[in-house]
Amino acid sequence: MKRIMLLLAISLIAPALMSAANTPVAPNGIAYYPEYMAWKVIAPSYREDKSHIRIITGNETAIVALHAGKNPLPDGSVLAKAAWKAEKHPSFPEATVPGAFVQVEFMVKDAKKYKDTGGWGFARFVGNELKPYGKDAGFVSECFQCHMPVANNDYLFTNIVKTP
Ligand code: HEC
Repeated sequence: MKRIMLLLAISLIAPALMSAANTPVAPNGIAYYPEYMAWKVIAPSYREDKSHIRIITGNETAIVALHAGKNPLPDGSVLAKAAWKAEKHPSFPEATVPGAFVQVEFMVKDAKKYKDTGGWGFARFVGNELKPYGKDAGFVSECFQCHMPVANNDYLFTNIVKTP
């Protein structure tokens, strides 16, 4: 009986440990959030110069705060932005749809920990291998610099999409 219990415990724990070991981690220590596609949608977007279709999602803390009009967002808020190559739909070329996966990026709010970058920790995982972006933790200055024009909106470009 003991042995069965032990085997049961191992079979329950092992997959969790394995997935933790395989989780990609950015050079600044931010780990990939595998559940971002189950989060609620903040907005879609299209970047013309890169021809990318994106979707921006937020975890529960972020969504509740955005709906309440909170700015800045509270600690614990996480936003994800996933990008795909824009493609013409093969059966309806006037429709542009997501093709190959490009990357996913995250912004993680912790006002104290990330005080040098507006309270946000940044991370990017590239391609189907989810390769962590950046040679070292200094990569975040590239992210932060480009998000500077929206400093007065908590460094966020995207507002929650309007629905009736
Ligand atoms: C060249 C400018 C630029 C750089 C560099 C940049 N971003 Fe952004 N980012 C944007 C713009 C513009 C948006 C608005 C939505 C879009 O582009 O589709 C955005 C949106 C986001 C969002 C969704 C929340 C929001 O602000 O709208 C996240 C998350 C994000 N970026 C993460 C990152 C990370 C992580 C990096 C660095 C690895 C980074 N960004 C670098 C321009 C930039």
